[in-house]
Amino acid sequence: MPEQPLAPSIIVVFGITGDLAQRYLLPALYHLFQEKLLDEHTEIVGLTRQNLSAANLYDRVELCINETDKVCDPVALKAIQRATTLLQFDPQVGADYDELLRYLNSVEDKHDVCMNRLYYLSIPPSVFQTAVRNLGEHGLNGSCQHGNVQTRLLVEKPFGSDLASAQELIDSTNASFSEEQVYRIDHYLAKETAQNILTFRAHNPIFAPIWNSQNIDRIDIIASEKIGIEGRANFYEGVGALRDLIQSHLLQLLAITTMDMPVQLNSATIHEQKEKLFQTITPAEPDEARRGQYDTYHEEVDNPGSVTETFAAIKLNIATERWQGTHITIATGKALQEKRTEVRVTFRRSDGNSENLNQLTFRIQPNEGIHLQLKVKQPGYEHRLQDALMDFSYQQTFGDHEHPNAYERVLVDAIRGDRTLFATSEEVLQSWRIIEPIIQRWQDSTERPNPYAAGSPIDDLL
Ligand code: BG6
Repeated sequence: MPEQPLAPSIIVVFGITGDLAQRYLLPALYHLFQEKLLDEHTEIVGLTRQNLSAANLYDRVELCINETDKVCDPVALKAIQRATTLLQFDPQVGADYDELLRYLNSVEDKHDVCMNRLYYLSIPPSVFQTAVRNLGEHGLNGSCQHGNVQTRLLVEKPFGSDLASAQELIDSTNASFSEEQVYRIDHYLAKETAQNILTFRAHNPIFAPIWNSQNIDRIDIIASEKIGIEGRANFYEGVGALRDLIQSHLLQLLAITTMDMPVQLNSATIHEQKEKLFQTITPAEPDEARRGQYDTYHEEVDNPGSVTETFAAIKLNIATERWQGTHITIATGKALQEKRTEVRVTFRRSDGNSENLNQLTFRIQPNEGIHLQLKVKQPGYEHRLQDALMDFSYQQTFGDHEHPNAYERVLVDAIRGDRTLFATSEEVLQSWRIIEPIIQRWQDSTERPNPYAAGSPIDDLL
């Protein structure tokens, strides 16, 4: 439970019938209703071009909730449905924004309280800039009517498709909203185990003196996905694994693993250190990057000549005294043998021997935990080594107690105005800068990514 009750809010959802809103945002809001975490006045305003009723909308959302929870709580579903109003809305039409402003003011009048206004933008990049500009031009970027509560913009990735387009998006957003008002969602940062990387580093000081290249040989950030593109051909074709996961989620994991630790952990100090870290990463060398495509992908996207990569692996170098010499690999792929996301830190031996190295693994998902791999002697007359794990598992330590999922966390933090787990514009720009040479190389190349059989282990591709 958050320590402070959440302020009354109006959550305006652009693209409420879209995949992200239906699969993640609305189920997360439903859970917040179920746990009674939201203020009683909270309202959801869904914007859609379609003529749809809230009942129809939540019939679809119920299917998504059933997929994860098995059963949907009818009381919570009714509560969220009652709190939702759908407005027919065209993001290109200025008059619709005036209507929206009138509606938001009327909601506040009804409750007679100053309400947080949150705009959740789950719309294609082509419409995004128009929507943000219109929000500014029609006075929707201001505070509530009778108070001084900051209006916030919640933005979903992709934040651009390369460095230039990201810069353009950021510039146009800045014209209507200040940086403090923009909450760029990176749901990996809101995963419990990702948050635990910083906590682990801050509160287990035995690791601090050895957190550098003298002692760490390599850092591997691996995100293996079992699912393919799940019908998202329009989104994925032309995006690929490098932009979809490495630019955002996985570079963020690298940043929290390697940034300098501030004396105090808070949003400002964490972002300051992450930005500094990103600035020291050398642009990735395309000759060292690899890409692959699972064998049935081109049929799924109905494009026999597709060169979109569904697997990507890159090597990076952090050009600081602290990290120079540590090998960094980031790899991700779809349609692989298993779902597994982890950050693996492999320590060096002082005698230079490259065998029998200790390894510390942050297991992001599934079976969340932190494992330290040690070497022990097998019982017996001979001196035979064996791996043994010092093992922290969420399941064993916290039992089946459900923790908030990443989207619930994102929403609660946006409502309470905590930007710690969101990406700043500088972080976004820096991560595009880092992968830009590979984007250019792959864009200009007619070479096909290496095919791999769906269901392959990621280790076979590394
Ligand atoms: C999204 C990507 O950001 O993250 C998807 O667009 C990917 O392609 C997803 O499948 C992975 O998220 P998670 O939480 O399932 O690991």
